[in-house]
Amino acid sequence: MGRLLLSSGQVSVILSAVIVFLFTLALFLSGYVLQQRYVQNLQAVIKPRLPKPLQPEKPIEPPKLDMKWARPMGGRPEVDETYSQYIAGQTMDWSRLGYVQVVREHVELCSAVMLLSDLARMKSPAKRILMFPKLWLAIAEDGEYSPEMATTRRLLRAAARRYGVTLIPMEPIVEGADDTLPSSYSLASLYSLVDFERIMYLQGPGVLLDASALDSLLAFSKSEPMAAYPATPERRDLSTSLLMIHPSQQSFSQLKALRASKPTSDLDLLRSTFSAPESLMSEWSLSMGNVVYEAQDLRLAVDDFNATAFEQATTFVRLSDPAMPGPEYDMPFPDRVRLRPQNLQAEEAWSKLYERFRQQRMEVCGLDLEVYEAPVLSDGADAMRAVSGEL
Ligand SMILES: *[C@@H]1O[C@H](CO)[C@@H](O)[C@H](O)[C@H]1NC(C)=O
Repeated sequence: MGRLLLSSGQVSVILSAVIVFLFTLALFLSGYVLQQRYVQNLQAVIKPRLPKPLQPEKPIEPPKLDMKWARPMGGRPEVDETYSQYIAGQTMDWSRLGYVQVVREHVELCSAVMLLSDLARMKSPAKRILMFPKLWLAIAEDGEYSPEMATTRRLLRAAARRYGVTLIPMEPIVEGADDTLPSSYSLASLYSLVDFERIMYLQGPGVLLDASALDSLLAFSKSEPMAAYPATPERRDLSTSLLMIHPSQQSFSQLKALRASKPTSDLDLLRSTFSAPESLMSEWSLSMGNVVYEAQDLRLAVDDFNATAFEQATTFVRLSDPAMPGPEYDMPFPDRVRLRPQNLQAEEAWSKLYERFRQQRMEVCGLDLEVYEAPVLSDGADAMRAVSGEL
């Protein structure tokens, strides 16, 4: 028996071993439970409250949130940051996240409604908002609207009824400015939407290929006064092609005051208020694909360009090209041949984008392409036709 008795030293070694084991077990179990809860809650987050379905007869699918976009704006996430993101996600209220289009001129309205209709079709759970000059709501005294105004009123109605868009009339950014001039309105008005936690602005005209990537950026980002798409890969300036902002009265007043002190373009106004690179979306956020792609870059495509891979990796393509009229114009065939990408795969992607824009313009706005003549060649009649092409 005596030999089985343990010395007090041995007892304490065994005891500490048992304690270490129990602690390890407890740590493992709590970790496991936490992880399970994390996964379940994450699943709950990914199935957000949906807005009222547009076509109630169809079953509602939860929006596709793409986890590869679930990253904070300020660089590579640390473990703690991921967790705080997750906590933030738990209280995520889709009614306080939105996509906003801002239109200042009648000609911009169709593209804006098209983008919002894309978001509706792709079942984005965030709000859709359209800001436009309040002047457009003025009732004509004789009930007769100009053809341009009649189209505008029809498109505003369609946006609200068919695509669940919230219409928000805006005032000129500087009090007392001429409300008939497009230049009296500003992107700074985005900051007046203080009921929203985060809003995303996309600069049209363009084609949206994947709403889930944008939904995820919107849902999983920190609220910052400004997170803009960089103007160049060198990240020295912001661009206005994509802005994600946290609206606040403070930023709104600041921008208004600055704008009132001297007339500036929106780009300069935002650049002088929000410095780069602090106010840019992080490289990390943008590293997973083409969040914004300029269609003209397809002309630079090289041999291994793959149209399928391009579409899969791209979220939004802006169809703006200094060499071409806007996508709403019907380009003469010889010009099209001259300007389309030489690379066959890139040409396929390019033509598909412009054709998709044309079809959608017809489906969403009921508008055909405008007649286009190069300005130097046009005579008065053609110019008239281009101006009244929407009718
Ligand atoms: C293009 O990309 C797709 C998807 O990434 C791939 O399946 C296909 O094989 C590629 N095609 C060529 C010609 O490389």
